[in-house]
Amino acid sequence: MAVKIVPSVLPADFARLGEDCVALAEAGVDRIQWDVMDGRFVPNLTFGPDVIAACRPLVACGFEAHLMCERPEEMLPRYVDAGCELVIVHPETLRQPHQTYGAIRDLGARTGVALSPATPLGLVEHALDRVDLLLVMTVDPGFGGQRYLATMEPKIAAARALIATSGRSIELEVDGGIGPDTIAGAARAGADVFISGSALWKYATFADGVADLRRRAEAARAA
Ligand code: DX5
Repeated sequence: MAVKIVPSVLPADFARLGEDCVALAEAGVDRIQWDVMDGRFVPNLTFGPDVIAACRPLVACGFEAHLMCERPEEMLPRYVDAGCELVIVHPETLRQPHQTYGAIRDLGARTGVALSPATPLGLVEHALDRVDLLLVMTVDPGFGGQRYLATMEPKIAAARALIATSGRSIELEVDGGIGPDTIAGAARAGADVFISGSALWKYATFADGVADLRRRAEAARAA
């Protein structure tokens, strides 16, 4: 699959979220990720479906919702109605994972499963027929600006091997500390979708960052 560069808007100026979405779309990002946090599954609180819906009409690129929330199944329709084409959930937050993965698809969205660093691949290996994206977190969920966990690279490679056994085109996404010094390691390990937040905001322009990160990931995969 082609390399995808997907910003998290967690580092954005929350008073100018719409403007940042427009600037990111103009910079050529492949999608925009919304890190939804409920203050319970993670010790942080961010935005909900109404904020996402307010930004939806401003850009044409896809939106994905990363639900770092307890009981995410209770609000799935709200995130799809807000304009998210992909909804990512953590298996630890689900009472009935298979049912929830199917419910996301029944709403017309694609299903993503996020594994925190300590969460084994075993939690998703029997549900791959209901999964469209596998997110291997390279930091503990909850905050941007954390240090990339290179120890996750063998897990990324194992996830790539697991996807190969499924015979399905499941996207392999990484999230957490992804920047110019870390993206190559994640790409070599097998990732094809790269979430970047704080590192992308550090470039002179979003366009510079998207181009540089994409080039580095593509070069690492070609090596
Ligand atoms: C953690 C968040 C962050 C964010 C990216 O819960 O999911 O990983 O998306 O933040 P950076 O790129 O700053 O690590």
